[in-house]
Amino acid sequence: MKKTLSIAALVALLVAAVPASFGQAAADNYKTKCAMCHGADGKGATPAGKTMGARDLTAGPAAKETDAEWTTITKNGKNKMPAYQGKLTDQQIGDLVKFMRTLK
Ligand code: HEC
Repeated sequence: MKKTLSIAALVALLVAAVPASFGQAAADNYKTKCAMCHGADGKGATPAGKTMGARDLTAGPAAKETDAEWTTITKNGKNKMPAYQGKLTDQQIGDLVKFMRTLK
């Protein structure tokens, strides 16, 4: 019984740790590398975002794209969107995609 409990506690801890593990680093990367165009809220309503044609990541067609599409666009760039392949690791890009899904 005690063992079952500690395993349950461990699982709960791991689950709780997952958002935290991508959360802060991804939030910092987003803030320093992406927010000038995409906006802190992901809506792309910054002056640079409007000029470059950044789309709302929280609603509409861009938000309907899959995680795989977002990952590819972040790696390879698209039109005015810079490519981050080689500047960010696959792990960092994956975490950024998860982070952007939390923007409202
Ligand atoms: C210089 C401005 C700029 C910066 C900086 C920038 N982006 Fe973008 N991003 C864009 C533009 C413009 C588009 C739209 C490209 C298109 O579809 O023409 C875009 C598109 C995207 C898309 C696909 C959504 C869509 O519109 O289809 C993702 C995902 C994305 N960016 C992620 C990021 C991430 C992550 C970062 C930071 C690591 C970042 N961007 C930094 C300008 C920028």
